[in-house]
Amino acid sequence: MARILVLNGPNLGRLGSREPDVYGSQDLAALKVLLEADAPSHEIDLRQTDSEPELMSWLFEAVDTNTAVILNPAAFTHYSYALRDAAAMVTKAGVPLIEVHISNPHSREEFRHNSVISAVATGVIAGFGFDSYRLALAQLTR
Ligand code: DQA
Repeated sequence: MARILVLNGPNLGRLGSREPDVYGSQDLAALKVLLEADAPSHEIDLRQTDSEPELMSWLFEAVDTNTAVILNPAAFTHYSYALRDAAAMVTKAGVPLIEVHISNPHSREEFRHNSVISAVATGVIAGFGFDSYRLALAQLTR
């Protein structure tokens, strides 16, 4: 069964209670259920960490195991060159990596308007709530 890594960065473990007006009231467990229903023939390996090195190590794993990635880098999106370099290793290895955001960062504070990840991602989907992940999964499984 083909595996897809669904990687989530800092504070996303608080989904459900964190700023529900921005991020909705569903948590990551609910997201996993949605994605598994969408792609029953794939293994949805959904993870979350607040740790930059841990998130990087999961991208190294994606390279080493040739596993497609849906990545919500959360706040790391805006400043982590280390994560960007790790994401570049994934796409330069020919492994797809789709950057996703629940909110539309471009409609929010100025500091959210720049992503250091987007230029090395295969594609970017933002602003559709959990459907951002579902659209990314649809693209990876089509
Ligand atoms: C986010 C947007 C980021 O700006 C923010 O830091 C997050 C979540 C999103 O999914 O909308 O933590 O990546």
